[in-house]
Amino acid sequence: MDLFEKIKQVTEEINSEVIQNSESLEKFRIKYIGTKGLIKDLMGEMKNIPNERKREFGQVLNEVKNLAEEKWMGLKEKFDQTESSIDKGIDYTAPGYPSSIGTKHPVSIVRDRMIQIFEKIGFSVFEGPEIEDDWHNFTALNTPQDHPSRDMQDTFFITEDKNTVLRTHTSSAQIRAMETQKPPIRIITPGRVFRNETISARAHCSFHQVEGLYIDENVSFADLKQTVYYFAKEMFGSENVRFRPSFFPFTEPSAEMDISCFICDQKGCAVCKGSGWVEIGGCGMVDPNVLKNCNIDSEKYTGFAFGMGVERITMLKYQINDLRLFWENDTRFLKQFVTEG
Ligand code: PHE
Repeated sequence: MDLFEKIKQVTEEINSEVIQNSESLEKFRIKYIGTKGLIKDLMGEMKNIPNERKREFGQVLNEVKNLAEEKWMGLKEKFDQTESSIDKGIDYTAPGYPSSIGTKHPVSIVRDRMIQIFEKIGFSVFEGPEIEDDWHNFTALNTPQDHPSRDMQDTFFITEDKNTVLRTHTSSAQIRAMETQKPPIRIITPGRVFRNETISARAHCSFHQVEGLYIDENVSFADLKQTVYYFAKEMFGSENVRFRPSFFPFTEPSAEMDISCFICDQKGCAVCKGSGWVEIGGCGMVDPNVLKNCNIDSEKYTGFAFGMGVERITMLKYQINDLRLFWENDTRFLKQFVTEG
């Protein structure tokens, strides 16, 4: 057969090959473009072509070679993509694995709930920095240098001059609010605080507070008590709160708030230290000196303030008897808590 005829025939054959998978593609490669393939054979025939037709022969041969190679390459790419996933055992029709998403930390759940409860009665969130200066954390809060009450909260100092501290309470943010807002002021200051305390089942060197401040004309201690009762009722469904006279430099009079121990049902446990009551924070009427420090007319305005520990409230709410669990990030512990509406 005329070699030109043969090339034409091979071209037609290549065009009409139907290749369904990589196996038959490999057969195709061996048959046409392999080292012992048809195209190589035809190349070997070059010596039998008369000189004046060699050029033409080379051209058509090249064309058929390109045709075969292009067909092979296109299909190879296609099969590689689809078949490799099958090779790796991926079955796109299989149902998906449920991907486990994290849960909200119980302390965050309770903090958010606290915010929600106070927002319902008109408090709005105000936030301040965790790294504070002496003025906002102490001095403006009626706690001058060398005042013994500074020892009430063991402070982490950041600078040697002791002017920069990790805030020991979010009362510092309340000062910032009073410096920038005019009464009536009704805010809560949620946030992280730091104290150089020994870590135990009921204390940590870092914890969270939600503090509140209400300044207006004629605000009384009765308003404060009512607000705390409302909070306890919303949070625990019980108003079992007691106020104990106490001292804070920034409030006068001052009280500590206890809530009945829901962990042991007041029978006595490690968290309530056998007393049946757990302290959840402090409160009182804002000392007029604090108002003066923030340029608020202390003749005209009075106010109450309170500060609560979120971890303590979380322990009571969920009957958790060791605060250190909050820091361990053990998902078996964390996944037990579901967000409330
Ligand atoms: N700042 C106090 C504390 O962290 C709590 C408190 C706030 C007490 C407001 C009275 C009024 O212990």
